[in-house]
Amino acid sequence: MKTPAKYGAYVESAEYIRRICKMESAPDAAIILGSGLGGYADELADTVVIPYADIPNFPTSTVSYQKGELVYGKIAGKTVLAMNGRFHFYEGWEMWECAYPVGVFKVLGVNTLIVTNASGGINESYRPGDLVAVTDHIKLSPDSPLRGPNIPEFASDRFFDMQNAYSRELRAVAMAVAAEVHIKLRTGVYGYMTGPQYETPTEIRMLRMLGADLVGMSTVPEIIMAAKCGLPALCISCVTNMAAGITGAAITEDEVVETGKLRAESFKALVTGIISKI
Ligand code: HPA
Repeated sequence: MKTPAKYGAYVESAEYIRRICKMESAPDAAIILGSGLGGYADELADTVVIPYADIPNFPTSTVSYQKGELVYGKIAGKTVLAMNGRFHFYEGWEMWECAYPVGVFKVLGVNTLIVTNASGGINESYRPGDLVAVTDHIKLSPDSPLRGPNIPEFASDRFFDMQNAYSRELRAVAMAVAAEVHIKLRTGVYGYMTGPQYETPTEIRMLRMLGADLVGMSTVPEIIMAAKCGLPALCISCVTNMAAGITGAAITEDEVVETGKLRAESFKALVTGIISKI
């Protein structure tokens, strides 16, 4: 295991970003863009684009269809920092590395985190293309992004509460915006599986019995870090396929990416509406 970063590393990353973006105040929100949803960064105006590789101490993305860059810009009268490409445990990163950018956002003074992802639908009332506001998660992996020495600068408490990790307040904003822009926004519990293999049908039945509505391979490290830092977070998931064993059809990466793209416009409308209200 690589030794987790100390607070000073987060500060160094944040100072670099602040300097390159000529930030005068904290961004209003940070957004982590999931598979197929990366196009959202193109919606931003007056952008500054920073490749992850340029940011001191930042991990670098390896999945080919995802970019590895941070985009700072304006939308709906707000300033946002968008992560185009994220770090997944299955790529080989430590869990704390997957969550590292969230700590940097905290140092930058961000007070709203919007996380998006693609997921498999376990709840049989979902359909591919549905957008879901995540209410909670189940993590079966014993790892945690906060495993290792405590980072007291983020929160002095070693143990921290997860009951509002998916902020009720931000979810209420998302539901209100969805109603305004006529997007059906479901709610559900996200089951985290570390991948990269999709799940077996029996794993999906297990997750359903445990209470999961969705399954995916991202987001949970970032949400745990946000909870540690006291950073309110919202997660919107796009159901790109029904989970293993439900229809019997093979699950392919192409299907996941294509369904994400089909829903990109609704997703953009939803996220922009949310940002305008924070
Ligand atoms: N399983 C895990 N991750 C996913 C899936 C899935 O079915 N679809 C999109 N991401």
